[in-house]
Amino acid sequence: MSLQAKKRADYQPPAFTINDVKMEVKLHPTCTRVFSEYQVERCGNHSYPLQLDGDNLKLNSVTVDGQPFQDYVETQSQLTLNNVPDNFTLAFETEIDPEHNQALEGLYLSAGTYCTQCEAEGFRRITYYLDRPDVLARFEVTLHGEKEKYPILLSNGNPVAKGDNNDGTHWVTWQDPHPKPAYLFAMVAGDFDLLKDTFTTMSGKEVKLELYVDKGKQAQGAFALASLQRAMKWDEETFGLEYDLDIYMIVAVDFFNMGAMENKGLNIFNSKFVLAEQHSATDEDFFNVESVIAHEYFHNWTGNRVTCRDWFQLSLKEGLTVFRDQQFSADMTSPLSNRIKHVRVMREHQFAEDASAMSHPIRPEEVIEMNNFYTVTVYDKGAEVIRMFHTLLGPEKFREGIDEYFRRHDGQAVTCDDFVAAMQSVTNLDLGHFALWYSQSGTPVINVTTSFDADNGLMDITFSQHTPPTADQKDKRSLFMPVAFDCIDSLGNHYTDDDGQVENGKFILDTAAKTLHFSNVKEALIPVVLGNFSAPAKVHNSLTASQLLAVFKYANDSFNRWDALQSLYDWCISQYESNQHDTVDESIWHGFEQVIGNESNNHELLGECLVIPSFETLCQKRQLVDVASLHTARNQFCEDFAKRLQHPLKSLFDSINTGDYEYSQQAINARRCRNVVLNHLACAGDADAMLKSQFENADNMTDSLGVLKAAQGHSPALFESLMSQFEQRWNQEPLVLDKWFGLHATTERPDILSQLSMLQQHPQFAKGNPNRVRAVMGSFAFFNTAGFHAEDGGGYQFVTDYLLELDAVNPQVAARIVTPLTQWHNYAPEYQLRMKTQLQRIAEHKNLSRDLYEKVSKSLAYSVTSEQQ
Ligand code: TRP
Ligand code: ZN
Repeated sequence: MSLQAKKRADYQPPAFTINDVKMEVKLHPTCTRVFSEYQVERCGNHSYPLQLDGDNLKLNSVTVDGQPFQDYVETQSQLTLNNVPDNFTLAFETEIDPEHNQALEGLYLSAGTYCTQCEAEGFRRITYYLDRPDVLARFEVTLHGEKEKYPILLSNGNPVAKGDNNDGTHWVTWQDPHPKPAYLFAMVAGDFDLLKDTFTTMSGKEVKLELYVDKGKQAQGAFALASLQRAMKWDEETFGLEYDLDIYMIVAVDFFNMGAMENKGLNIFNSKFVLAEQHSATDEDFFNVESVIAHEYFHNWTGNRVTCRDWFQLSLKEGLTVFRDQQFSADMTSPLSNRIKHVRVMREHQFAEDASAMSHPIRPEEVIEMNNFYTVTVYDKGAEVIRMFHTLLGPEKFREGIDEYFRRHDGQAVTCDDFVAAMQSVTNLDLGHFALWYSQSGTPVINVTTSFDADNGLMDITFSQHTPPTADQKDKRSLFMPVAFDCIDSLGNHYTDDDGQVENGKFILDTAAKTLHFSNVKEALIPVVLGNFSAPAKVHNSLTASQLLAVFKYANDSFNRWDALQSLYDWCISQYESNQHDTVDESIWHGFEQVIGNESNNHELLGECLVIPSFETLCQKRQLVDVASLHTARNQFCEDFAKRLQHPLKSLFDSINTGDYEYSQQAINARRCRNVVLNHLACAGDADAMLKSQFENADNMTDSLGVLKAAQGHSPALFESLMSQFEQRWNQEPLVLDKWFGLHATTERPDILSQLSMLQQHPQFAKGNPNRVRAVMGSFAFFNTAGFHAEDGGGYQFVTDYLLELDAVNPQVAARIVTPLTQWHNYAPEYQLRMKTQLQRIAEHKNLSRDLYEKVSKSLAYSVTSEQQ
């Protein structure tokens, strides 16, 4: 196993390529045989041997142009063939063991279904290959399997032939006409229920849509299939992009490391992102199904038709595709709550990653294990960078740039630079400086300072930017950022700057500092900065509580309005942290009351604005966090908020009539707002009767879960009894049971560790199932603040013990759950010490995976400088 980092700068084009692949796969639980035949071509004039990637394969026989071939060397990770011709047919057979493949990469057999996961480097676990995204081949695949157990045999492209063998097996041959890299290869064998429909493309072609789900789950697949149709239509209307095969298949499986995978013509999904119906899925689940279905569909162009030259370019496809799915979701649902959702991810998770030892640019420079780089930075910050292109160019030019990108690169494996160059070709704006976003890591900070000259009625607002050094890069340059800007006074009048630097509500900050000048000003103005989160930055804009309330009242941008309240909550909590509760005075409580009163019909806005920032978000604005004291301060504030505002909250609650279940944006907003308020009312106390009644009358999962969450922190006895009812009702629905597991794992109680052990003994828990492991251990490590950070270090130790076991089973999942431990730098020294003790234990563990090795060794080697604080 190689623990050596690969560097982006070391890229070399492939010495050979493979143009055509024929595979014959004979499925068997422990001894699947794969017969591979490749048309290989030497690239350029050289005499290097052909080196194929492999991972723990058993090789049976090799032929070159039909003749037995012996001049090869086989290792754990490579098959090297010496003295091969320039153009030849290579054929060989390998053997693999899908049943014992618990890492869920390559071909695996779980819950009676065979399926594959090849991104990023999983194909090499199936057969020897040039397993890199810049080798594109046409695939023909024949699958053989027991007819009874596996009536359905799928691979990419179109089915072209099938038949029965005389040993109880049958076979199907699939041909994919589009050359593709191996990471997009897929096959599936199993027994499913099938949902079918069609989609007629804009040029009039009829595409067959097929959705395969576990037997008996057909009704839960309808929403996903309808989402697919909406996504196909949207991509035609928005980007002029049409689907390019006659059939589009989606298979839902219960064992999956990530959300879903965009294999050409044959997406494989975690069932969590396919199955949804009102009783068992929340509004958020529905939202996620639609957005993941769309994401994978959009990859057909941004990822599959134009793919990545090498894995360092991952954001080329992921950042762009996340941006596309975000735009789609905003169009299907509501722009504001979408934007807030994504900003929360940036602030809670991406900013934390940037501040950690794992900090990397959206296009990383160095990678040990590629699976570790499917990160919030590559995905979500990557999408923010695309969004800035969109903001800077405007929708029309952006579309032109995307058209040009496809015109130039359809069918190719390209780089982020190629993308920027295509965008550059349609605009006069110089994108050279902007491109620094691809290579510079870290979260920029924008400081806003003001000076008001009352005598002359002049006001200056200065914006200065800096990016603190990160673990991977010391020196930082000024970035090129579109800064959405609005300026108001305490009465809500809007002001424009003297020099007209602000155009269409934004200006460009591309130097260390910039000043806007205002004249004829009667009072100190209030700068309203970064509307719609126009750049992935932190803003330090020290507004007073009353100014923040004025921003909420008068700003044009709804995101800014929401954000002003978030800052106000944050400020209040910091007053509590320093025991100055009284500075949160009547005027502020009155301000909150007015927010509720004035916006009582705007359920969307209130549903977001009445959410107090999470502990994780608060951490990102603080250094060396003393977990216990921040946690206590936050809880005290939440309680005061609930008690002081109990009456307006209660009348708001009563005014929201959610009626019979309906999946419409209005109904979703109403449910959301009502459940947010319910949580406050539970916090104020004496709400058991309300909670019970909502639980008993709920005709949908959103409202049931709303009660459980509200009871969880505020009504332990009721919580216990509702949770056991819930378990009995949903015992046979693993996806619902995951919610139950997650609720238990995030409950703050002194005996949480023995609770976790009990959950792990639960008959439905399985270490081999990533959804279960994430529901219990992931929820605990990421979101059980008091338990994970317990002052005796027990939480850290518990997670570590578990990760050491899990690493041997599924390193990819283990490496995700270790993330909170690797973010020790954010906490007070005594916490840091306890976290590092556990990281050290991991580092010393024998046979550690590359995945954990990379994250843990980086984290331990990281020393934080004062500049970074
Ligand atoms: N490309 C997938 C996506 O759409 C990500 C993915 C799915 C993945 N499964 C994976 C990445 C396994 C690494 C390993 O985002
Ligand atoms: Zn993706």
